[in-house]
Amino acid sequence: MAEKPRPLVAGNWKMNGLTADLAEIAVIRDALAGALGGPDIIICPPATLIAAAAQLCAGSFIAIGGQDCHPERRGAYTGDIAAEMLRDAGASYVIVGHSERRRDHGESDVLVSAKAEAALRAGLKVILCVGETEAERAAGHAPDVVARQLEGSLPSAPHGDSLVVAYEPVWAIGTGVTPTPNDVAEMHGFLRQRLAARLPESSDVRLLYGGSVKADNAAELLHLPAVDGALIGGASLKAAEFLAIAATYR
Ligand code: PGA
Repeated sequence: MAEKPRPLVAGNWKMNGLTADLAEIAVIRDALAGALGGPDIIICPPATLIAAAAQLCAGSFIAIGGQDCHPERRGAYTGDIAAEMLRDAGASYVIVGHSERRRDHGESDVLVSAKAEAALRAGLKVILCVGETEAERAAGHAPDVVARQLEGSLPSAPHGDSLVVAYEPVWAIGTGVTPTPNDVAEMHGFLRQRLAARLPESSDVRLLYGGSVKADNAAELLHLPAVDGALIGGASLKAAEFLAIAATYR
């Protein structure tokens, strides 16, 4: 059996955060300084803060990520950001296929796959999100939906450690409702099998759970054998809460 990969705790700030909020990142950085053996930490602030956040975290354990990228390197795409630009600003990861992008911007699996491909081209690691809606789960289609999203959204030949997959049931995002630990374990086991069938180095792919992770439910959700970490939205905005979640791995 392959060794379990190092856990990863990632914060997705979404469309939150002004310059003053960089102070939260500084608190996280200082709290983790010299802390060996903990999880890998990634913070994905809005694009406007990436360069400053990367500067703040230079030489620390914290990596900075973007929340989306365009498939092309450059061009007439008003308002979009190329993966190369994120990299240039100091990011080393990017989230693609978040359900808010799929829902609000109509992103298809084909587009998400092209974005993941662009991220790898630019030297970024990819956090690929998949997850079913409440109706899809109620109809018993959750495994089919996430399998279809996973297979349709993967870049063509990712190295295991350049890919992170986040299972985020849409109905758990920002709602305070989470699946049971059993449901998470089942879906992660299923995703792990699908990854193994598809990728040679799939044991290096970290499988995160995301959706209403908080300090008080982190221990029961993140210590499941098939879970390698968390993607955290709301609870990542305040350093104390984010650090408390990360501390479940100490
Ligand atoms: P949440 O968001 O933790 O606020 O539920 C998770 C996410 O969307 O990544």
